Amino acid sequence: METPNQNIKPVTTKINEKGNIEIGGCDLVDVAKKHGTPLYIYCEKTIREMAKAYKDAFSSYKKTHFMFASKAFMTKAIVQILSCEGFGFDTVSGGEMYTVKSVLGDLKTCLLNGNNKSEEELNMAIDNNIRLISVDNFLELAMLNRIAKSKNKTVDILLRITPGIECHTHKYIQTGHLDSKFGFDLTQLDEAIESIVEDYKNLNLKGLHAHIGSQIFETKVYYDEVKIMLGEFKRIYDKFGIKLTEMNLGGGLGINYTINDRAPSVYEIAKQIIDSIDKYTEEYNLEKPTICIEPGRSIVGTAGVTLYKVGTSKTIPISNKKYVAVDGGMADNPRPSLYQAVYEAEVVNKRDKNKKEKITIAGRYCESGDILINDVELPELNSNDLLCIYDTGAYGYSMSSNYNRTLKPAVVLLNNGSAKEIVKRQTYNQLVENDMLL
Ligand code: LLP
Repeated sequence: METPNQNIKPVTTKINEKGNIEIGGCDLVDVAKKHGTPLYIYCEKTIREMAKAYKDAFSSYKKTHFMFASKAFMTKAIVQILSCEGFGFDTVSGGEMYTVKSVLGDLKTCLLNGNNKSEEELNMAIDNNIRLISVDNFLELAMLNRIAKSKNKTVDILLRITPGIECHTHKYIQTGHLDSKFGFDLTQLDEAIESIVEDYKNLNLKGLHAHIGSQIFETKVYYDEVKIMLGEFKRIYDKFGIKLTEMNLGGGLGINYTINDRAPSVYEIAKQIIDSIDKYTEEYNLEKPTICIEPGRSIVGTAGVTLYKVGTSKTIPISNKKYVAVDGGMADNPRPSLYQAVYEAEVVNKRDKNKKEKITIAGRYCESGDILINDVELPELNSNDLLCIYDTGAYGYSMSSNYNRTLKPAVVLLNNGSAKEIVKRQTYNQLVENDMLL
């Protein structure tokens, strides 16, 4: 069965009777008129369908928790939508925890993870009853135990491990390979457990956590990840007599950014994970653990598109290469310049198939590297046409900046013909409000 991460476009996308692109029953020309550009747009139905697909795909494995990886896109409204779908939240900072807490009142459905958590963040997590903390290194074990002890509390923890799996993804978004800044190497795990058993009485070890990478197209790597994790569960039981009950497998499922991409469906990775659990719990004579899946990109990536207004254009005389500039770029989407990410685009307001031309879409920022899409075939564009770039829902808004002192765009959620602003456009006032004169 196909799942929305395998589409290029949000599930409600169509061309309406005016010939314009419509998402969530809203004409994008009207949405741009009302909310301005650049504009982040999300299709609520796509987010919910994807969340439901995860739940359905794992429905045969009752002990599954889902935690949305907040780093992909964290705002108050996404907390409302996904908590209503039964998801908790994987958080990595005070800011992400604060956003969840401001909506739900506590952090009982959350995990805190990260390779350099501050004392303040650990305090915030414990004080708001976080479900689990994934401890990354030896120093953090000591610090967390000290904080928990001072509050007379016991904290449930996972140990983050690097399982030594290499995925074929961009090297900046690989995380599970051995030379990684994240987590304990498997050869260090016993020393960490010994210190918990002997010295850290305020830490309660529940299980292990791993994340093998992002934008993953392979499925077998999940089978291998479970195999490695359960192998450690068995070894730890045999050596320490500790029965681990929680296995967090991270996120990573890829999405189709272009027609050449072949992301698997959620059902395909669920099958690998469940098959591997069945095989290795039987082989190692282990009880079936609670599992946790932490998807980010696959939940919100396909749901999001960015709208830009076309401005100037320029043709290079010697090569005839044509650049068309839009009113956003690397500050609202740094992924093309950071990871050479490739996207598909469409013109929102015209469909003249005969007058196509090959162009390069340039951003408005003062850097030559600020190119959103190289060599794309589109109908001839003029100033004020609207361009829609698909699949910008994950790691776009969350990695945006105020580079060149531009304002962060608004975010609008579309559903059933209604367009609701869920993040307001920044104002010049907000831009300078923390600046101090000499
Ligand atoms: N869990 C952990 C521990 C993670 O580190 C990550 C992502 C996830 C879950 C979610 O992974 P996802 O399902 O989104 O693949 N900025 C990069 C992606 C960085 C991912 C970092 N970790 C990009 O724009 O491609």
